[in-house]
Amino acid sequence: MNKRFITLLLAAGIAVIFVATALHAGTEVKDTFTMETDGYKKRKKAPPKFNFVEFSHKTHATDYKISCGECHHDKDGKALDIKMGDDVKGCGECHNKFKKDKKNKKDIMVHENAMHGNCISCHKEINIKAGDPKGRKGPAPASCGKCHTKIKK
Ligand code: HEC
Ligand code: HEC
Ligand code: HEC
Ligand code: HEC
Repeated sequence: MNKRFITLLLAAGIAVIFVATALHAGTEVKDTFTMETDGYKKRKKAPPKFNFVEFSHKTHATDYKISCGECHHDKDGKALDIKMGDDVKGCGECHNKFKKDKKNKKDIMVHENAMHGNCISCHKEINIKAGDPKGRKGPAPASCGKCHTKIKK
Protein backbone atom coordinates (compact mmCIF):
# COMPACT_ATOMS: atom_id res chain seq x y z
CA MET A 1 0.00 0.00 0.00
CA ASN A 2 1.30 3.42 -0.82
CA LYS A 3 1.08 6.44 1.44
CA ARG A 4 -1.63 8.14 -0.58
CA PHE A 5 -3.93 5.15 -0.28
CA ILE A 6 -3.47 4.96 3.48
CA THR A 7 -4.32 8.66 3.80
CA LEU A 8 -7.48 8.10 1.76
CA LEU A 9 -8.48 5.16 3.93
CA LEU A 10 -7.96 7.24 7.07
CA ALA A 11 -10.02 10.11 5.68
CA ALA A 12 -12.85 7.74 4.79
CA GLY A 13 -12.75 6.27 8.31
CA ILE A 14 -13.00 9.70 9.90
CA ALA A 15 -15.91 10.63 7.61
CA VAL A 16 -17.79 7.50 8.69
CA ILE A 17 -17.30 8.37 12.37
CA PHE A 18 -18.63 11.90 11.77
CA VAL A 19 -21.76 10.69 10.01
CA ALA A 20 -22.37 8.07 12.70
CA THR A 21 -22.21 10.59 15.58
CA ALA A 22 -24.40 13.09 13.70
CA LEU A 23 -27.08 10.43 13.15
CA HIS A 24 -26.85 9.33 16.75
CA ALA A 25 -27.40 12.84 18.12
CA GLY A 26 -30.27 13.52 15.72
CA THR A 27 -32.32 10.48 16.57
CA GLU A 28 -31.81 10.61 20.33
CA VAL A 29 -34.75 12.92 21.21
CA LYS A 30 -37.30 10.91 23.14
CA ASP A 31 -40.94 12.00 23.32
CA THR A 32 -40.88 11.65 27.10
CA PHE A 33 -37.81 11.88 29.29
CA THR A 34 -37.54 10.03 32.55
CA MET A 35 -35.50 12.54 34.52
CA GLU A 36 -32.90 10.35 36.18
CA THR A 37 -29.73 12.32 35.64
CA ASP A 38 -26.54 10.60 36.75
CA GLY A 39 -24.70 12.37 39.51
CA TYR A 40 -27.16 12.17 42.36
CA LYS A 41 -25.08 9.95 44.60
CA LYS A 42 -27.59 9.59 47.40
CA ARG A 43 -29.96 7.78 45.04
CA LYS A 44 -27.34 5.11 44.62
CA LYS A 45 -26.76 4.82 48.36
CA ALA A 46 -30.37 4.42 49.46
CA PRO A 47 -33.43 3.11 47.62
CA PRO A 48 -35.26 6.16 46.24
CA LYS A 49 -38.48 7.26 47.96
CA PHE A 50 -39.83 9.06 44.92
CA ASN A 51 -40.55 8.12 41.35
CA PHE A 52 -38.48 9.80 38.66
CA VAL A 53 -40.13 12.85 37.12
CA GLU A 54 -41.63 12.17 33.70
CA PHE A 55 -41.09 15.12 31.39
CA SER A 56 -43.23 15.18 28.25
CA HIS A 57 -40.65 16.81 25.97
CA LYS A 58 -42.66 16.44 22.78
CA THR A 59 -45.91 17.69 24.34
CA HIS A 60 -44.11 20.73 25.75
CA ALA A 61 -42.52 21.63 22.42
CA THR A 62 -45.50 20.78 20.19
CA ASP A 63 -48.84 20.99 22.04
CA TYR A 64 -47.84 23.70 24.53
CA LYS A 65 -45.95 25.48 21.72
CA ILE A 66 -42.92 26.37 23.83
CA SER A 67 -39.93 27.34 21.72
CA CYS A 68 -36.73 25.32 22.12
CA GLY A 69 -34.81 28.38 23.31
CA GLU A 70 -37.08 28.81 26.36
CA CYS A 71 -35.27 25.82 27.84
CA HIS A 72 -32.10 25.24 25.80
CA HIS A 73 -29.32 27.82 25.89
CA ASP A 74 -25.61 28.13 25.22
CA LYS A 75 -22.68 28.32 27.63
CA ASP A 76 -23.52 31.97 28.41
CA GLY A 77 -27.19 31.29 29.06
CA LYS A 78 -28.24 32.77 25.69
CA ALA A 79 -31.30 31.08 24.13
CA LEU A 80 -30.43 28.57 21.40
CA ASP A 81 -32.03 28.73 17.97
CA ILE A 82 -32.36 25.00 17.28
CA LYS A 83 -34.66 22.51 15.62
CA MET A 84 -35.38 18.81 15.99
CA GLY A 85 -32.46 16.76 14.76
CA ASP A 86 -29.79 19.20 15.96
CA ASP A 87 -27.13 18.05 18.37
CA VAL A 88 -28.14 19.52 21.73
CA LYS A 89 -26.33 19.25 25.05
CA GLY A 90 -28.13 17.81 28.05
CA CYS A 91 -28.68 20.23 30.96
CA GLY A 92 -26.39 18.19 33.21
CA GLU A 93 -23.37 18.72 30.97
CA CYS A 94 -23.12 22.31 32.26
CA HIS A 95 -25.30 22.26 35.36
CA ASN A 96 -23.00 19.58 36.67
CA LYS A 97 -23.03 20.18 40.42
CA PHE A 98 -25.18 17.62 42.17
CA LYS A 99 -24.84 18.81 45.73
CA LYS A 100 -25.99 22.14 47.12
CA ASP A 101 -23.32 24.27 48.72
CA LYS A 102 -24.54 25.51 52.13
CA LYS A 103 -23.06 28.97 51.46
CA ASN A 104 -24.63 29.37 48.03
CA LYS A 105 -27.80 27.31 48.02
CA LYS A 106 -29.26 29.01 44.97
CA ASP A 107 -26.20 28.46 42.72
CA ILE A 108 -27.77 27.99 39.28
CA MET A 109 -25.00 25.63 38.18
CA VAL A 110 -26.45 23.11 40.63
CA HIS A 111 -28.53 20.75 38.49
CA GLU A 112 -31.54 20.71 40.80
CA ASN A 113 -31.68 24.53 40.87
CA ALA A 114 -31.49 24.76 37.08
CA MET A 115 -34.31 22.24 36.72
CA HIS A 116 -36.53 23.92 39.27
CA GLY A 117 -35.63 27.35 37.90
CA ASN A 118 -36.78 26.31 34.45
CA CYS A 119 -39.77 24.06 35.14
CA ILE A 120 -41.31 25.65 38.23
CA SER A 121 -40.98 29.31 37.24
CA CYS A 122 -42.87 28.73 33.99
CA HIS A 123 -45.49 26.56 35.67
CA LYS A 124 -46.05 29.21 38.36
CA GLU A 125 -46.61 31.88 35.74
CA ILE A 126 -49.21 29.67 34.07
CA ASN A 127 -51.02 29.07 37.36
CA ILE A 128 -50.95 32.77 38.23
CA LYS A 129 -52.58 33.54 34.89
CA ALA A 130 -55.13 30.82 35.62
CA GLY A 131 -56.14 32.57 38.86
CA ASP A 132 -54.01 31.38 41.79
CA PRO A 133 -52.10 34.44 43.08
CA LYS A 134 -49.22 32.32 44.43
CA GLY A 135 -49.09 30.13 41.36
CA ARG A 136 -48.85 26.93 43.35
CA LYS A 137 -52.18 25.45 42.34
CA GLY A 138 -53.53 25.23 38.82
CA PRO A 139 -53.09 23.38 35.54
CA ALA A 140 -49.29 23.15 35.68
CA PRO A 141 -47.54 21.17 38.46
CA ALA A 142 -45.70 23.58 40.78
CA SER A 143 -45.63 21.92 44.20
CA CYS A 144 -43.09 19.24 45.13
CA GLY A 145 -45.46 16.30 45.37
CA LYS A 146 -47.02 16.98 41.97
CA CYS A 147 -43.72 16.21 40.22
CA HIS A 148 -41.99 14.01 42.80
CA THR A 149 -44.67 11.44 43.48
CA LYS A 150 -44.05 9.03 46.36
CA ILE A 151 -43.29 5.41 45.56
CA LYS A 152 -46.12 3.36 47.05
CA LYS A 153 -45.05 0.49 49.26
C1 HEC B 1 -39.93 23.04 28.31
C2 HEC B 1 -38.50 22.89 28.12
C3 HEC B 1 -37.99 22.33 26.81
C4 HEC B 1 -38.39 22.65 25.53
C5 HEC B 1 -39.47 23.62 25.08
C6 HEC B 1 -37.55 21.88 24.65
N1 HEC B 1 -36.68 21.11 25.37
FE1 HEC B 1 -35.32 19.79 24.61
N2 HEC B 1 -34.94 19.12 26.49
C7 HEC B 1 -35.42 19.68 27.67
C8 HEC B 1 -34.94 18.92 28.80
C9 HEC B 1 -35.23 19.20 30.25
C10 HEC B 1 -34.16 17.86 28.27
C11 HEC B 1 -33.45 16.75 29.03
C12 HEC B 1 -32.02 17.06 29.10
C13 HEC B 1 -31.30 16.27 30.16
O1 HEC B 1 -31.70 15.14 30.46
O2 HEC B 1 -30.34 16.81 30.67
C14 HEC B 1 -34.17 18.03 26.81
C15 HEC B 1 -33.49 17.22 25.90
C16 HEC B 1 -33.34 17.48 24.56
C17 HEC B 1 -32.47 16.76 23.66
C18 HEC B 1 -31.59 15.56 24.03
C19 HEC B 1 -30.30 16.04 24.65
C20 HEC B 1 -29.48 14.90 25.17
O3 HEC B 1 -29.03 14.98 26.31
O4 HEC B 1 -29.29 13.91 24.44
C21 HEC B 1 -32.58 17.34 22.43
C22 HEC B 1 -31.84 16.94 21.16
C23 HEC B 1 -33.54 18.43 22.57
N3 HEC B 1 -33.98 18.48 23.86
C24 HEC B 1 -33.92 19.27 21.54
C25 HEC B 1 -34.97 20.18 21.62
C26 HEC B 1 -35.53 20.92 20.48
C27 HEC B 1 -34.99 20.86 19.07
C28 HEC B 1 -36.58 21.66 20.97
C29 HEC B 1 -37.54 22.54 20.20
C30 HEC B 1 -38.25 21.92 19.10
C31 HEC B 1 -36.67 21.39 22.41
N4 HEC B 1 -35.69 20.49 22.75
C32 HEC B 1 -37.62 21.94 23.26
C33 HEC B 1 -36.23 20.78 27.76
C34 HEC B 1 -36.92 21.36 26.70
C1 HEC C 1 -23.66 24.88 27.52
C2 HEC C 1 -23.91 24.93 28.95
C3 HEC C 1 -25.33 24.92 29.45
C4 HEC C 1 -26.32 24.00 29.12
C5 HEC C 1 -26.23 22.82 28.17
C6 HEC C 1 -27.50 24.39 29.89
N1 HEC C 1 -27.22 25.49 30.66
FE1 HEC C 1 -28.53 26.48 31.87
N2 HEC C 1 -27.14 27.94 32.21
C7 HEC C 1 -25.82 27.87 31.81
C8 HEC C 1 -25.11 29.04 32.33
C9 HEC C 1 -23.63 29.35 32.15
C10 HEC C 1 -26.06 29.79 33.06
C11 HEC C 1 -25.85 31.11 33.79
C12 HEC C 1 -26.09 32.24 32.83
C13 HEC C 1 -26.01 33.58 33.51
O1 HEC C 1 -25.22 33.74 34.44
O2 HEC C 1 -26.79 34.43 33.10
C14 HEC C 1 -27.33 29.06 32.96
C15 HEC C 1 -28.52 29.50 33.53
C16 HEC C 1 -29.66 28.74 33.64
C17 HEC C 1 -30.87 29.15 34.34
C18 HEC C 1 -31.09 30.49 35.03
C19 HEC C 1 -31.31 31.58 34.03
C20 HEC C 1 -32.57 31.41 33.28
O3 HEC C 1 -32.51 31.25 32.02
O4 HEC C 1 -33.64 31.40 33.88
C21 HEC C 1 -31.75 28.11 34.25
C22 HEC C 1 -33.14 28.05 34.85
C23 HEC C 1 -31.11 27.07 33.45
N3 HEC C 1 -29.84 27.49 33.10
C24 HEC C 1 -31.69 25.85 33.10
C25 HEC C 1 -31.17 24.97 32.13
C26 HEC C 1 -31.88 23.81 31.58
C27 HEC C 1 -33.27 23.39 32.00
C28 HEC C 1 -31.05 23.24 30.66
C29 HEC C 1 -31.33 22.05 29.75
C30 HEC C 1 -32.58 22.08 28.98
C31 HEC C 1 -29.81 24.01 30.64
N4 HEC C 1 -29.93 25.05 31.54
C32 HEC C 1 -28.72 23.73 29.84
C33 HEC C 1 -25.24 26.90 31.04
C34 HEC C 1 -25.91 25.85 30.42
C1 HEC D 1 -42.01 27.74 29.32
C2 HEC D 1 -43.01 27.01 30.08
C3 HEC D 1 -42.73 25.61 30.62
C4 HEC D 1 -41.55 25.06 31.04
C5 HEC D 1 -40.18 25.68 31.02
C6 HEC D 1 -41.86 23.74 31.53
N1 HEC D 1 -43.20 23.49 31.42
FE1 HEC D 1 -44.19 21.81 32.08
N2 HEC D 1 -45.94 22.60 31.44
C7 HEC D 1 -46.09 23.78 30.74
C8 HEC D 1 -47.49 23.90 30.28
C9 HEC D 1 -48.06 25.04 29.45
C10 HEC D 1 -48.17 22.77 30.78
C11 HEC D 1 -49.65 22.43 30.57
C12 HEC D 1 -50.50 23.08 31.60
C13 HEC D 1 -51.98 22.82 31.30
O1 HEC D 1 -52.39 21.66 31.38
O2 HEC D 1 -52.66 23.77 30.94
C14 HEC D 1 -47.17 21.95 31.48
C15 HEC D 1 -47.46 20.74 32.09
C16 HEC D 1 -46.52 19.90 32.68
C17 HEC D 1 -46.82 18.60 33.29
C18 HEC D 1 -48.19 17.92 33.38
C19 HEC D 1 -48.71 17.54 32.00
C20 HEC D 1 -47.71 16.84 31.14
O3 HEC D 1 -47.54 17.25 29.96
O4 HEC D 1 -47.03 15.90 31.58
C21 HEC D 1 -45.63 18.10 33.78
C22 HEC D 1 -45.40 16.80 34.51
C23 HEC D 1 -44.60 19.08 33.44
N3 HEC D 1 -45.18 20.16 32.79
C24 HEC D 1 -43.26 18.93 33.76
C25 HEC D 1 -42.25 19.84 33.42
C26 HEC D 1 -40.86 19.68 33.76
C27 HEC D 1 -40.27 18.50 34.51
C28 HEC D 1 -40.21 20.79 33.27
C29 HEC D 1 -38.74 21.13 33.36
C30 HEC D 1 -37.81 20.16 32.82
C31 HEC D 1 -41.21 21.64 32.64
N4 HEC D 1 -42.44 21.04 32.75
C32 HEC D 1 -40.92 22.86 32.05
C33 HEC D 1 -45.13 24.72 30.52
C34 HEC D 1 -43.78 24.60 30.84
C1 HEC E 1 -42.22 20.86 37.72
C2 HEC E 1 -41.75 19.68 38.37
C3 HEC E 1 -40.98 19.80 39.68
C4 HEC E 1 -41.40 20.38 40.86
C5 HEC E 1 -42.70 21.11 41.12
C6 HEC E 1 -40.36 20.13 41.83
N1 HEC E 1 -39.33 19.45 41.24
FE1 HEC E 1 -37.65 18.74 42.17
N2 HEC E 1 -36.89 18.14 40.39
C7 HEC E 1 -37.57 18.15 39.18
C8 HEC E 1 -36.70 17.64 38.14
C9 HEC E 1 -37.07 17.50 36.68
C10 HEC E 1 -35.48 17.31 38.77
C11 HEC E 1 -34.22 16.71 38.10
C12 HEC E 1 -34.20 15.22 38.27
C13 HEC E 1 -33.14 14.56 37.45
O1 HEC E 1 -32.87 15.01 36.32
O2 HEC E 1 -32.56 13.55 37.90
C14 HEC E 1 -35.63 17.61 40.19
C15 HEC E 1 -34.67 17.38 41.17
C16 HEC E 1 -34.88 17.48 42.52
C17 HEC E 1 -33.96 17.04 43.56
C18 HEC E 1 -32.57 16.44 43.30
C19 HEC E 1 -32.67 15.06 42.77
C20 HEC E 1 -33.05 14.03 43.78
O3 HEC E 1 -33.81 13.11 43.40
O4 HEC E 1 -32.62 14.13 44.95
C21 HEC E 1 -34.54 17.31 44.77
C22 HEC E 1 -33.96 17.03 46.16
C23 HEC E 1 -35.83 17.94 44.50
N3 HEC E 1 -36.01 18.02 43.11
C24 HEC E 1 -36.72 18.37 45.47
C25 HEC E 1 -37.87 19.12 45.21
C26 HEC E 1 -38.65 19.82 46.24
C27 HEC E 1 -38.36 19.80 47.74
C28 HEC E 1 -39.66 20.46 45.59
C29 HEC E 1 -40.72 21.40 46.17
C30 HEC E 1 -40.19 22.60 46.78
C31 HEC E 1 -39.53 20.14 44.15
N4 HEC E 1 -38.42 19.35 43.98
C32 HEC E 1 -40.40 20.55 43.16
C33 HEC E 1 -38.88 18.59 38.99
C34 HEC E 1 -39.66 19.22 39.94
